[in-house]
Amino acid sequence: MLNSVHEVHNYSRQARSLGKKIGLVPTMGYLHEGHLSLVREVKKHCDLVVVSIFVNPTQFSPNEDLDSYPRDLDRDIKLLEKEGVNAVFYPQPEEIYPGNYSTFVDVEELNKRFEGSTRPTHFRGVTTVVSILFNAVSPNVAVFGQKDAQQAAIIKKMVKDLKFDIDIIIAPIIREDSGLAMSSRNIYLSEEERSDATILFRALRHAKFLIDQGERNTAEIKKHMMDMINAVNSASLDYVAVVESELFLEVDELVEGSEYFILVACRFGKARLIDNFLIAL
Ligand code: PAJ
Repeated sequence: MLNSVHEVHNYSRQARSLGKKIGLVPTMGYLHEGHLSLVREVKKHCDLVVVSIFVNPTQFSPNEDLDSYPRDLDRDIKLLEKEGVNAVFYPQPEEIYPGNYSTFVDVEELNKRFEGSTRPTHFRGVTTVVSILFNAVSPNVAVFGQKDAQQAAIIKKMVKDLKFDIDIIIAPIIREDSGLAMSSRNIYLSEEERSDATILFRALRHAKFLIDQGERNTAEIKKHMMDMINAVNSASLDYVAVVESELFLEVDELVEGSEYFILVACRFGKARLIDNFLIAL
């Protein structure tokens, strides 16, 4: 386990001098099959896998769940050992953000929409910590999950704009058998809410069905989804949107040859869940 930036720098300098390709999977720990799928994906593209575990304080607002965010380092380490991960970077908050820390990375506009509108400083925290992790680890390739589609788009944009020499791979969403997208925050769901929350997958699947049947009007698609989700008592819908896949601008009509995300964010009790489908026409 590597705890300091100094140790990670040495690790990656040595690996590179031996001609090894490094793959990075950034996480906040409390790992599940979704995270492990990213490890398996990155392995295909590199010689050494580094997984970071850091519950990043700057991406939580003061009223969010930073302190109660689930943590289980011992279990995480065991899972990663089983996957044959070469190094785990596990810094303390003061290692990443010493008292005089003052530099932030912002991907403008894209960081204001959807997840950014309910969580105004969230993406600035994400892009800042991911930049720090990129500079610490110097990976050749890094993998992120489509589960957080807007985060993935923002990181791709940041890498392009800031000219990081890192290949970004986006890996598909891993779901439970029920269709519920895996998430560390699913732990907040009661048994009943966990079953109610499958409505997000079912609504997305219905939207895909409508599109496969030829529906191209996004207001119509959204209406069907909202009706389905609002019919579930414990669901408190935040947004449903159909956006183009790069800048996350909403569209009225779907056109052939383009890629879109259908996005949904919804609260069930204490848990705020997000999910999406990628639609390639
Ligand atoms: P975290 O929520 O721990 O997620 C780490 C990575 O796992 C992200 O790229 C996320 O999209 C991916 N992931 C989560 N659930 C998934 C699922 N069901 N299927 C596939 N991939 C999934 O996202 C973060 O941490 C942080 O914002 C981070 C990027 C580490 C920066 O702090």
